[in-house]
Amino acid sequence: MQAEPVRRQVTVTEEGPVLVHGPIEVTLDDGRRVSSDRAVTALCTCRRSRRYPFCDTSHRRRSRNRPAAARSSVPQGDGMLSTTAPQPVCQSTLPEPRGPLSTAVLATLRGSTAVPDATEIGSAVIEQADPHGDDLQLALYCCYELHYRGFAEGPDDPVADGLEWHPGLLGLRRRMEQVFLTALRSDVPGGTDVTAEINTLLVEVVGASGVSHHLCRAGQLWQLREYIAHRSIYHLKEADPQAWVIPRLSGPAKAALVAVEHDEYGAGDPQRMHARLFADMMTELGLSPRYGAYLDAAPAATLAEVNFMSLCGLHRQLRGALIGQFATVELTSSPGSNRLVQAMQRLDCGPASIRFYAEHIEADAVHEQLLRRGVIAPLLAAEPELAADVVFGIQASTLLADQFSDLLLSRWPQDQTTLRNPLPDAPGQD
Ligand SMILES: [Fe+2]
Ligand SMILES: [Fe+2]
Repeated sequence: MQAEPVRRQVTVTEEGPVLVHGPIEVTLDDGRRVSSDRAVTALCTCRRSRRYPFCDTSHRRRSRNRPAAARSSVPQGDGMLSTTAPQPVCQSTLPEPRGPLSTAVLATLRGSTAVPDATEIGSAVIEQADPHGDDLQLALYCCYELHYRGFAEGPDDPVADGLEWHPGLLGLRRRMEQVFLTALRSDVPGGTDVTAEINTLLVEVVGASGVSHHLCRAGQLWQLREYIAHRSIYHLKEADPQAWVIPRLSGPAKAALVAVEHDEYGAGDPQRMHARLFADMMTELGLSPRYGAYLDAAPAATLAEVNFMSLCGLHRQLRGALIGQFATVELTSSPGSNRLVQAMQRLDCGPASIRFYAEHIEADAVHEQLLRRGVIAPLLAAEPELAADVVFGIQASTLLADQFSDLLLSRWPQDQTTLRNPLPDAPGQD
């Protein structure tokens, strides 16, 4: 019996690159050959890329002036020069505490004197805390949120902005960070071989069983909605933790990282910001797109992934780890996004749901090139001593992603929710 020929998938995108499932070797018109070992490679078709034949999203600058409605089925505004009514800054409401550390942080945020505040937490409480547990991860998350949008207890009751630099909160945060970092460093092998780590990320294991594989193959709508609720903790602040590293870079690494961030923030069009595309998807799936809506529902594994980004973003000495974390996301996102598009299509989800992940098949095939060649290479050329931190960022973010994946894939087969509070059914679901 003859084996079925392997069909290589090639996707043509509207006015964008051609996406070829690799690895591939490309022969250019002058006879030069270039190769890509990526799972998905974005090849430039507009000939404007400065990294030709690989796409660098230059086509988006050309198509910016097209009518917004032609680019999307999602309701559009006026883009960069929008004169529509300003949108209020939406803040998270304060979550319920999950133990002594989060009780102390939240008491400080509420100005309560009924329980010890952040300055009064004893060392024993911190040392005995589970570094991957709910209490420490929620307490850390709340400390970090003060540096993003802050909290509000009610519509007209914001938590004081001055608490962002409260010495007691900063001191407690530092001690909790040390517990988290010590655990992460002891749980990963470490090393200095960045190329080897990247090569590992680039290989898609045959028969792999991550969350996107499950959702693509056999995921149910309630599982997909749970996944989106978890991921909202990061995606509604998409690219913000990585923005903190910009002033800590210089030269080519800074320019390339800003190019990726520019894309994440919609290339100047607020309707195309990835966080906005994610919110549109949540609305379409019957989920609340409100910032922080699922904070109480999010388990420690969900918070830990975001906390690691915030931790690395806020500490200059962890800039290498932040780059490693960002590279891990961008290098692994494109094939995973492809599977999520297939999951959405199989489950008859609407256009906004498909659009978020379809956007990332293309965007992240480009971003991974920019991160590898544009950011990591010049960063390590200028500061080779950061190699160990880049490796740590890759390994730690992979470990945390695996812990999140293990949680979902261990509960779903038993029809158990993976959130702390189960979601209400989507409209039209029984
Ligand atoms: Fe994105
Ligand atoms: Fe990206």
